Amino acid sequence: MCGIVGYIGNRKAIPVLLSGLSKLEYRGYDSAGVAINENGKLRVEKCKGRLTSLEERLKTENLDGGMGIGHTRWATHGEPNDINSHPHISQSGEIAVVHNGIIENYIQLKEFLVERGYNFKSDTDTEVVAHLVEHYYKGDLLDAVMKVIDEIEGSYALGVLSKDNEDMFVCARKDSPLVIGLGDGENFIASDIPAILEYTRNIYILEDKEVAVMTKDSVKVFNSLGAPVKKEVFKVNWDVEAAEKGGYEHFMMKEMYEEPKVIRDTFSPRIINGELKLDNINITKEEIDNLQKIYIVACGTAYHAGVVGKYIIEKLCKIPVEVDVASEFRYRDPLITDKDLTIIISQSGETLDTLFALREAKNKGSRILSIVNVVGSSIARSSDDVLYTWAGPEIAVASTKAYNTQLTALYLVALDFALKKGTISKEEADNILASLKEIPAGIEEILKDKENIQKFAHRHYNAKSIFFIGRSLDYALSMEGSLKLKEISYIHSEAYAGGELKHGTIALIEKGTLVVCPMTQDSLFDKMVSNIREVKARGAVVLAITQQRHKEELEKTADLVLTIPDVDSLIAPISAVTPLQLFAYYMALEKGCDVDKPRNLAKSVTVE
Ligand code: F6R
Repeated sequence: MCGIVGYIGNRKAIPVLLSGLSKLEYRGYDSAGVAINENGKLRVEKCKGRLTSLEERLKTENLDGGMGIGHTRWATHGEPNDINSHPHISQSGEIAVVHNGIIENYIQLKEFLVERGYNFKSDTDTEVVAHLVEHYYKGDLLDAVMKVIDEIEGSYALGVLSKDNEDMFVCARKDSPLVIGLGDGENFIASDIPAILEYTRNIYILEDKEVAVMTKDSVKVFNSLGAPVKKEVFKVNWDVEAAEKGGYEHFMMKEMYEEPKVIRDTFSPRIINGELKLDNINITKEEIDNLQKIYIVACGTAYHAGVVGKYIIEKLCKIPVEVDVASEFRYRDPLITDKDLTIIISQSGETLDTLFALREAKNKGSRILSIVNVVGSSIARSSDDVLYTWAGPEIAVASTKAYNTQLTALYLVALDFALKKGTISKEEADNILASLKEIPAGIEEILKDKENIQKFAHRHYNAKSIFFIGRSLDYALSMEGSLKLKEISYIHSEAYAGGELKHGTIALIEKGTLVVCPMTQDSLFDKMVSNIREVKARGAVVLAITQQRHKEELEKTADLVLTIPDVDSLIAPISAVTPLQLFAYYMALEKGCDVDKPRNLAKSVTVE
């Protein structure tokens, strides 16, 4: 949600800011802006629309200067328009601010400032920060920002520039991500590493309520009490190409093509001489034996991975599992204790609701095991055990490869726990691991066959409403297939448990309604065939997805059968999701939608 970037050094700031913002556009893309200090004068350009609109505008302005801040917005307060775009400027025009997050007490602060003669131009919460910094500014920008962060409530990553200070700016964060890039004679700030990776691999990760003073030759970090903090340098070990499209038309397609590799990267280093060894998971056999319950908490796609996790952990480990949407969990006063484990799943590691759900569980004494993609993210740093999904940067707003790796990680955790608990034998575990090892090659086959899905999408992209039905793990998969479709193609869709449809929703099935049926669970195959017959009797067109071994049989009932290579039912969701992702992709493409940047969405939801 919103991307911020800042630069100070000997280069011209604008090209650095624009290139950084282009890497952050996945976080929000309804408006963009920059501010620079040019010889003691603040110059600001901002406008509604994609970054390209700002770039156009900047072509005619000659913004010089080696220090600046930039922003790409996902609107929370106030519609996307030029005035609500960031940076926001203080009353005198001497302070400029970019912000990611939500200032929850902005109404009270606004009243306080209005009483003191400050005029507000925008509908945003951020503008209070600009005026408040000015209110407290008595020649020391750090001091003013410290006073401001003492007063604001909510979440923020801030970049603050002033007219008076030509050779320094200040940044701060709480509950919204912010990293500092350390260069030679230049320094950077950004909401995410890809924005600055072209310039440096040396990073400071700011902790909550830390504030930094940025000059071109130094970065000084302070805690909320104003005491200096010694930061450790985090070295980024992946390449900038990982965050580039690499010849693909869309990041989403590139990321689907990366699935075989990232699944391998997630399991291979953890199977050593045939033994499962989970790095950074320190929970003991005794602790696992004594677990009363496991809670899995996440949002969106990560939540759907959690639903698969529930099925497999209960099946393999015989521990009851509850899966919760993070935004519900954090407010429902869950009956969680120190005898329970909470598994948190998050690609970004920064999703605000998920982070707060983690804190809720932790405060109640639960151990936290997180499955996270971004190293050093807030969720990773707040957890007792972390299993990283080595998916690499995921740029397309719709999550694909991260989901496959989240599932992979969940299988590894389930197997590890089950082995420690003795609920499965070594031989059973070896068989499951052997199936897991076949998944990447299976996905390569699925990707080769993508034209079939494209043709089907071409025939059906005008569908008004699509239903996904499945049972057990296929129900979990249906939820993900349905979410993928609606978020990028804007087609209404719903997922139902196969047996549930006839308890009401079947009333919506009529001639031509498209029903998508993942059918990878052998033991429930016949039940699903009956469900297909029920919808077909009412005129539905059925797309079924199943293992090669069921193709012939299923072709007698479904209109189109897409196959995945034969794989054990238990492990099938990891590869069976790929055709669903491809289906959503091609439906969106046929409809002319912006696949990588769907409307109203942004990656990394760092606001409530
Ligand atoms: C959907 C999607 C979202 C995220 C959700 C959680 O394609 O990407 O539903 O899965 O916002 O994000 P993370 O995993 O970063 O916590």
